[in-house]
Amino acid sequence: MTTREELDYCYDFVLDLTIESGKVIRDAFQGSKKIETKAGDWDLVTQYDRKVEAILINNLAKRFPTHQFIGEETVSHSNFLPELTNAPTWIIDPIDGTTNFVHSFPHTCISIALAVDKELEIGIVYNPVLEQLFTARRGYGAFLNAKPIKSSNVEGLEHSLLCLEASYATIEDIRDIILGRLEAFVSIAHGIRTMGSAALTLCHVAMGAVDGYHSDNLMPWDVAAGVLIIREAGGVVIDTNGGEFNVMSPKLLAVGNCRLARELVKLIKHADLKTHQRSLLLQATK
Ligand code: IPD
Ligand code: CA
Ligand code: CA
Ligand code: CA
Repeated sequence: MTTREELDYCYDFVLDLTIESGKVIRDAFQGSKKIETKAGDWDLVTQYDRKVEAILINNLAKRFPTHQFIGEETVSHSNFLPELTNAPTWIIDPIDGTTNFVHSFPHTCISIALAVDKELEIGIVYNPVLEQLFTARRGYGAFLNAKPIKSSNVEGLEHSLLCLEASYATIEDIRDIILGRLEAFVSIAHGIRTMGSAALTLCHVAMGAVDGYHSDNLMPWDVAAGVLIIREAGGVVIDTNGGEFNVMSPKLLAVGNCRLARELVKLIKHADLKTHQRSLLLQATK
């Protein structure tokens, strides 16, 4: 059990810590970085990803010794994704948008959330380069630089701006599915954007700048904070198939409102069916 006062204290503490840690990203942003790869050529990490995660976890662990941590760089180092338990758990992406950071493209941020009893209670996404601080507490609304934000009430995908991550089309196993969905998005929306930071994309859905976002390739640290921020801004986050969203699963569909959610689930199902039929046809003609 974590009381409201305890959560207030956690929020104040992590907010200061996140803003302080953002200085590391801001100072390093234009300079040269030591770049390594993890799962493939496209999966980059720098010394600053590790440094920011160490600062965050060390300080939080000192202040809250009973709390648990799920942090990207710690998990990728051990190659083991822990289970989310009922214990207060900080879910941390020290730099979301590492590829952007490497290229000095200013969409990069720290994403940090606190889950208690598996429920997201605190979400902070901080872009120290553009000085954008997105915050949410469960039940208290969502904010950008302390001003309330609201997700979009666009009526219909034909009036929407949508985001998805096209770079996954380089992975052979999922290329056709991604390209099929991309084609479907392009053919209906006003436009498509690919931002390179899942956390910031979710925040753009929360502030109504983007109407919908979808990816099937996410990790808990990419989304935990942004999901709470969207929900508190009035938006909807569900599983790609239309079911309940699980923060530990990679499949996410985030939209400004319920109507868009229904339409996007249908669009993706239709696109996947088309891709499947195309591949059957291709096999038959071989
Ligand atoms: C990545 C970004 C990207 C998303 C990837 C993530 P990272 O996180 O959020 O937008 O498409 O799935 O891995 O590696 O920059 O923290
Ligand atoms: Ca990464
Ligand atoms: Ca990430
Ligand atoms: Ca990261």
